[in-house]
This record gives sequence, structure tokens and C-alpha cells, in this order.
Amino acid sequence: MSSHVLYRKYRPGGFDEIVGQEHIVQTLRHAIARGAVAHAYLFSGPKGTGKTTVARILAKAVNCEKAVAHEGNPRTQRAEQSSYDGDPCRECGTCKDIEAGKALDIIEIDAASNRGIDEIRELREGVRSSPMRLKYKVYIIDEAHQLTKEAFNALLKTLEEPPEHAIFIFATTAADKMPATILSRVQRFDFKKFTVAQIAGKLKKILKAEKMQADDDALGMIAYAAEGGLRDAESMLSQVLSHAAGQVTAETVEEILGIVGFSQVSVFTDILEKKDVKGAIVFLRALEEKGVSAEEFLKSLTQHLRKALLLSVDASLRDAVVPELTDDQFRAIMSHVKRFAASELTRMLSAFIEAQDMMRKTPIAFLPLELALFKLYTEQH
Ligand SMILES: Nc1ncnc2c1ncn2[C@@H]1O[C@H](COP(=O)(O)OP(=O)(O)OP(=O)(O)O)[C@@H](O)[C@H]1O
Ligand SMILES: [Mg+2]
Ligand SMILES: [Zn+2]
Repeated sequence: MSSHVLYRKYRPGGFDEIVGQEHIVQTLRHAIARGAVAHAYLFSGPKGTGKTTVARILAKAVNCEKAVAHEGNPRTQRAEQSSYDGDPCRECGTCKDIEAGKALDIIEIDAASNRGIDEIRELREGVRSSPMRLKYKVYIIDEAHQLTKEAFNALLKTLEEPPEHAIFIFATTAADKMPATILSRVQRFDFKKFTVAQIAGKLKKILKAEKMQADDDALGMIAYAAEGGLRDAESMLSQVLSHAAGQVTAETVEEILGIVGFSQVSVFTDILEKKDVKGAIVFLRALEEKGVSAEEFLKSLTQHLRKALLLSVDASLRDAVVPELTDDQFRAIMSHVKRFAASELTRMLSAFIEAQDMMRKTPIAFLPLELALFKLYTEQH
């Protein structure tokens, strides 16, 4: 099994399979059921949170033969109002064509690949003509912030007066890089990172469908390492499943992915609090023996300290900056927040970021971490 297969295989095909993003799904369903879909949307948010997935579902939902019949007939509209929820039926010819990527009226443009110059030219030429077969031509413009200025300008004219039959969906991980002139003409949805529980929940469903089993610890580790995105979580799970025989445990995950669990980083932070250099060295040696990658450990450690630093400003920032933490993890980080001064956290972060830089320069993987310990705790300040 290649490591990317799962996230394609388990990409949701309807709104009913979308994890989280409730406000977005609800608003879109409602608009579809009322036949009041906007002509331009912006889907912004971190990677692997469902922007492309929801864009494709929306393209299907507005064109689904059921939706079209519903929209065109006020009587069925009234009769079905309560049962029709805006989901594509996934059975009609249109839904099937779109799912198979065969619908010519659904046009996906990847702005990252060639900055969209040719595609936007084609878009401008083609957008005015009616759809070939479907009700709506849907343009999905991925990595939209990478479009050139010329491409944006060209699009702007179209967005000022979009034809009735066209819908534009811009997807981007960097909405701040989109021109204000575009932003003012789109309905914007901000996709959120998933919590560890949401990610673990979907991984469990995949495991069930694959007839495989994993310990909760193991799933928790993957979910945590995925940093809020489902694609990374699903490709990590693919990798683990293709190597593991039988039940997947936390140790298998550590071994195969070289990733580091929350508890390890948390224990190491406890050791740092005691300025226990000897204990820290023993801990790192044990990690090395288990085959944990120094780079991954350092990355997790830096993330952990960063979260502590951010929460030291105010614990109420939790929802805004670290929604992925479980309650237990949140409590563990808060206990570190109480035990470290913010200035100490920044000093540690600087030392560990320096160590990250150094890792590229030495073949001795754990040396930069050890050096950081010496700098932090044995040199005189
Ligand atoms: N809300 C979601 N519910 C269920 N699965 C999801 C969701 N979001 C993402 N996934 C899973 O992650 C994979 C990647 O999602 P998607 O391509 O939609 O992410 P994206 O937000 O477009 O990311 P990028 O910015 O990297 O393009 C999907 O194939 C799907 O399996
Ligand atoms: Mg995408
Ligand atoms: Zn359909």
C-alpha cells in the first residue's frame, strides 16, 4: 500500500462524511437547499482540513440531478423542504461523472503549478459560455494565493459580474496573501484545524473499514503528530498499516514513523524544569535506542514549549491557538506554564531552534540537543 492511498480512498464524497467544520457545512447545505448559492467562495485554512474536499462536494451538490429538480420546482421544494438537506445524492449520472473526474464543467485549477496564467486566460474566455452538460460551471482554484497579479486582475473583471451559471471557489492556506479586491467579492469560510479526538475518530473509522486494529494510544500519537490536519494523519496511518503486522501499538507507531508522543515530550519538559542534565541525557539516549528521530523529537519539543509560551499569555487562548489539545494534554501544558517563567520558555525555545539549525550540519543526530542542554543549564549566566 502506498503511503498516500488512504487519504484518497477515504476522502468524503458528501457533506454527511465531513468531520468538524460544522458552521461551514451547515451554511452550505442551507444555501443549496434554498437554491441560494453564492457565486464566489473563499475556503481558507490550514492544510488537510477539507478545503478541496468541500469544494468538490459543493460542485457536486449544486449540479446533482436531485438538487436541480428541487430548485426548479417550487412544489417539490415545499414538499421536500424538511427532508432535503443539500447533500449530493451520489447516485445520479451527474454525481457519478463528477466523482470520476469526468465532468467537463467542473474545472480545477492549481495555481501553484504554473501560477495559473494559461488557465486564467482560458477561464476568462470560457466562463461566459453556458455549461456543456451541467447546471453550473464550477471553478475550483486551489492554492489561490499563488496566482499572479495579472491573473487576479483578469479574474476580478469576471467576479464583478459573474455569469448566472458560474461558481468560483478559491481555496488557500494563506488568505492574507489574497488581494483585498478579491476578498471583498467572495463569501469567506475559515476552515479550522481538527482536535486530536476528531482526527482519532476518523482514523478509527478507516481502521474499521480496513479491518485493522490499533491501540488508542497509537492513534492518539498519530493524531497529535498530524498537528490538526487530516491528510497528514491519514498518510501516517497508511504508512503504519503498510508496515505493521497485526495490532498497531504505540511502539509500532514510534518505530515506523519515528514520531514522538505527547507524554514523552511532557516528561522531558519535567526533566528540564529540574535542570537535570544527567536525567535529560539518559532520556535522550533511551529515545535514540528506540529509534526515535532526533529531528522529530526536537520538533515536538519545540511545539510543546511554544504552546506553553502562548498559553502563558492567557489560558483562554486555548481555543484560538491550540484547539487540538485534549483536556489531559491541556492540563499537562498548563502545569508547565505555571512552573516556567515566560522568559525561561523563550530562552529554551531559542536554544532549541538553534539546535534545529545545527542538525543539518552534523551527522551526529542527538548532538545539537545535547549541546543545547549544556548551553541552557551548565554554562554560567
Ligand atoms: N473535514 C474533513 N472530514 C473528513 N476528512 C477530511 C476532512 N478534511 C480533510 N480530510 C481528509 O484529508 C484529505 C485531504 O483533505 P483536503 O485535500 O480537502 O485538504 P485541504 O484543506 O484542501 O488541504 P491543502 O491545503 O493541503 O490542499 C482528504 O482526502 C480527506 O481524506
Ligand atoms: Mg487542497
Ligand atoms: Zn446526484
